Amino acid sequence: MRDRLRVGLIGVGHRGRAHLATLAGLEELFDLVAICDPSARNAETAARHCQATVYADPLELFGSARLDVAIIATPPESHHGLAGLAARHGVHLLIETPLAPTRAMMDYIENAAARAGVKVEVGENSWRQPVHRLNRAALDAGLIGRPLRATCFYEMGGHPDMFYHPSNLLRYYGGAAAAGTEVRAFEIRSQVDLLLDDSGRPVNPEVWSQAFLAFPNGVYGINTQVSTWSGPLRRSHPRSITVEGTGGLLVGGRRAVNALHRLEHQREVIYPLKVDVRERDGRHVPTRYSYETDPRVEWANPCADWPIPYGEATFGVEDDVARADELSSLYKAVTSGMPVVYGIADARQDQELSIAINESARLGGQPVTLPLGSETPWERAQHDAFRSKWGCDPLGEPGTVAGTNFGARGSS
Ligand SMILES: NC(=O)c1ccc[n+]([C@@H]2O[C@H](COP(=O)([O-])OP(=O)(O)OC[C@H]3O[C@@H](n4cnc5c(N)ncnc54)[C@H](O)[C@@H]3O)[C@@H](O)[C@H]2O)c1
Repeated sequence: MRDRLRVGLIGVGHRGRAHLATLAGLEELFDLVAICDPSARNAETAARHCQATVYADPLELFGSARLDVAIIATPPESHHGLAGLAARHGVHLLIETPLAPTRAMMDYIENAAARAGVKVEVGENSWRQPVHRLNRAALDAGLIGRPLRATCFYEMGGHPDMFYHPSNLLRYYGGAAAAGTEVRAFEIRSQVDLLLDDSGRPVNPEVWSQAFLAFPNGVYGINTQVSTWSGPLRRSHPRSITVEGTGGLLVGGRRAVNALHRLEHQREVIYPLKVDVRERDGRHVPTRYSYETDPRVEWANPCADWPIPYGEATFGVEDDVARADELSSLYKAVTSGMPVVYGIADARQDQELSIAINESARLGGQPVTLPLGSETPWERAQHDAFRSKWGCDPLGEPGTVAGTNFGARGSS
């Protein structure tokens, strides 16, 4: 048996419960000793699925639970305060996406972690889903030639101004850094008939946003995002990405026909995504994802021996694989001193692109080139909203920020 790390899960709403399910399959690495949530309803629901001690207050949690690691799955504007408090107690972190909404909040986390010498992994699951790992391997093997552009179709539930997931996928396939990227974006708002937020409450307008990213390496990224794609009005729309190269096309994502299209002897040949599965305890475990090219290109599921649940039965985008990968990256970093695989530096780039998209849209599509300069109006609005909503300085004492109840989806 390896050394198990004592983990506390902070925030047991929608995403926290997904981590709870994945953690149950990673008992070899982690001992879930505490959950923390001021919502009695969410804490009680989570407590039914584990043996952990329940805390309502993060100050109490860090004061008594002797954690090695904490998972922060609370609303985005709370991440930095909780991270600052955790770092003070020498606790390593997995922080959900976005790392934090603004650059000042991300600096807050980075500085606190550096001072305390704690590791921070970020739960960016997009690039970690199996079909994207396989497609990246196909791209690296030259199977679609030189990449020209990646086009993403995305939606972010109740957050039409958040673009970190598609930015992550575009950067991943573009093989590009955010610095030097020129962003142009605009958005159109329309009143529509049926639009519910991610708590099922009616909202309007629908926000349709279009972003064009010119990466410094000559690859282009395009993101089309519509706030209704997750709701009943347009639910059947794929959340997917296509990558076009000089000699073919890759398609990957949820509700997409995942495949490699290639030009061979001047003819299009289509290789559908193939998933090898193994039966375990009456359940199907995906072991390998491949395209049957010659030679075959494949990505083996590194989590196949762990009893994680594979929540989504849509082969190719199993999110449990992504979460297990995030957790094992943090485990390796903490126990061996290695760097985490993604972490603050990458998460910052994806969120900075998201901020730039908001800034260019505000300017009616004018180009915005990274790095960004001083605080943008969008960031200032985040800080102002924080002050007026939560009654404290967003960049103040971590204990005060972390002790705020940031609410839960559907609670107001
Ligand atoms: N990576 C992904 O694909 C993905 C998907 C969904 C959500 N997320 C992220 O996960 C985080 C949580 O989102 P969610 O959808 O689970 O929201 P949620 O509202 O369902 O859950 C948030 C929970 O945090 C609790 N909370 C609020 N303030 C707290 C505090 N000070 N201390 C401890 N707990 C507190 C709430 O009571 C609630 O139970 C967000 O950052 C979100 O962006 C990521």
